[in-house]
Formats: sequence, C-alpha cells, structure tokens
Amino acid sequence: MKNMNTATLQHSVNKPEDTTAQFYADVIEGLQSTPKQLSSKYFYDAVGDKLFQDLMNCDEYYPTNCELEIFTEQTAEICRAMMGNGEVFDLIELGAGDAMKSTYLLKYLLEQKANFSYLPIDISDNVINYLNMTLPVTLPGLQVTGLNGDYFDMLKKAASLSNRRKVVLFLGSNIGNMAVSDAEEFCKQLRNHLSNGDMLLIGIDLKKNPKTVLAAYNDKEGITKRFNLNLLDRMNRELDADFDVTKFEHYPMYDPETGSCKSYLISLEDQQVKVREETVSFCKDEFIYMEISQKYNVMQTNQMATGAGFKPLNIFFDSKKWFIDAIWMAE
Ligand code: AVJ
Repeated sequence: MKNMNTATLQHSVNKPEDTTAQFYADVIEGLQSTPKQLSSKYFYDAVGDKLFQDLMNCDEYYPTNCELEIFTEQTAEICRAMMGNGEVFDLIELGAGDAMKSTYLLKYLLEQKANFSYLPIDISDNVINYLNMTLPVTLPGLQVTGLNGDYFDMLKKAASLSNRRKVVLFLGSNIGNMAVSDAEEFCKQLRNHLSNGDMLLIGIDLKKNPKTVLAAYNDKEGITKRFNLNLLDRMNRELDADFDVTKFEHYPMYDPETGSCKSYLISLEDQQVKVREETVSFCKDEFIYMEISQKYNVMQTNQMATGAGFKPLNIFFDSKKWFIDAIWMAE
C-alpha cells in the first residue's frame, strides 16, 4: 500500500521569529552538551517533510505500511471503538504530518455520520498550512482546525476551544522518538491533559528481527541518511551555520536487547562549525546523537498505559505482528 497524498508539501511563507529563536537555543544547548545531540523534532522543515514522505514510500521502512494495513483492514472496528456511545467528540491528532493514515479513519467516520471535529497538531507550520488548505477539499464536510506548535501547548489550546470528549491520535510510532522513561513521562502528562473517558489511539512499533529494524533506518537509497543530514542543512539555511554535510556520516544502530534504534552523525575530521555567533568544535570520529526510534513488546505497552493512568481497551495488529495500534482510555 502506497502513500495517498504524495503531493509535495510546499514551503511555508512566514516563520515566526520565536520559533527560530527556540530552534537556535536548542541547537546551541545540544551542540555544547557532552555528548553532542540534536532533537529529531527539528528534522521536519519543508525539505525534511518531503524526505520523510519519500522514506514512507521506500521498501525498507515498514512502520507506515503496517499501520496503513491496520487502518484499511480494521477501519470499522477502530472507528466503532473511538465513537463510543455516539456522543460528539474532538479528534485531535498529535504530529499529523500529511494525515495520510488518519484520512482512512476520517473518511469512514464521515461516512458513518459521526459527530466530530478534526484538530491536527504539528510542529511544522508547513504541514498545518497544507492540512488547513487541502483537507476540506479532499474530505468534504470535515470540520478542520489545524494547530501549529508543541503537543501540550496545542492540547491546552484544543481544550480551551471546546469541552467535548477527546479522542487523541498519536500514530506512526511517534512515541518511539522518546527514550523509554521520557515516553512514560509523556504518557502521564498526556493523561493529565485529558479527562476520564477520553481516549488515546496510539501506534507503536514492536520489537522484531533486528535486521528488519536496522534496514528501515539504513535504507539503500540513503533517504534516512539525507533525512539526518538535512538537519545540518536546515541550520545552514535558518541559523546562518556553515556545516559541510560531506564531512559527516550517518551511523544507525539497533540494540535488540533494549529495543532502541538510534542514529548518529559522525564527524569525519577535526573541524569547527559556526552557528550564528557561536563556534562548535568537532573531533574526528565524534558523534552527534540525532534520533531514537524505540521499539516495544506488547506487555511493555500495556504497562506504559496503566502506569500513566490509562486502561488498555483494544489492540489492533497488522498481519505480520510488527506494529500495533492500541486504544487506551483515561480513567
Ligand atoms: C516519524 C518518528 C515514527 O522514528 O520511525 C524514520 C521517523 N526516522 N526514519 C521513526 C524516522 C528515521 C519515524 N517517526
């Protein structure tokens, strides 16, 4: 199954200055830490959004196809669980991206005449502008309010807009971009932003053959590599940095014992890089920790739910049992 919305996300016109200031502050803090690190949430500018779309269409990157299979094969069951007693609800998506996967659910909910509004949240202003423009056209009748910003700020905003029951979508194993303890903390915080009876539909990538996992983060075409290097380019574009991307090498690794898949950029020589007025020194072979994509087993996901104050209601698997979408209820 391939991507439905492959239309290229366009460059956004205006970028608020405080967004760039936050980006700069986080970059400097990360590059002055030991070890050096950058946040993968900054992968997603217009170029990064496009690279991630390409990644979702490449052979090795399985999570999207698994989740898509779940959504196409078990649409009715998933939607029935989300609709509960049929009362009006807000469907809030954290990190909506191109909303390609959720479109299957949205379409079915509209067909069922479900009474709901869709509030996609994304860190990329580029994505939100795109969704606000295109969704009302591709899904006539859909009420859309795109929210651009950090998850919890925008969840608060969503709560201030209405007091309806909330169903939160957190798909694509975005939870994997947090270390386990951070993910646990995140689920607790998310629970605290919800009321009893609200629901979370969460997509989680499972532990599987290590070669399968590693290949997904080390694709032959080198899209993942470009996806990582794009963050250096983004700093060149937005923070007046002078990274030479040919002097960094992408290094992905997967540890089957912990289930953590991590990517690093390795400096190929001693070098100095300027980011606005700061200068950052790299030793040859020094790494920048770029991203974690944590994998879980089902028992761990249930423990994460209950530990955060959710009751696991349903688990939907793909046919290979590589990925789950779970429904948790706040209680
Ligand atoms: C969008 C966070 C789910 O970690 O699998 C894909 C991002 N990084 N390839 C993931 C990603 C490298 C992706 N998530």
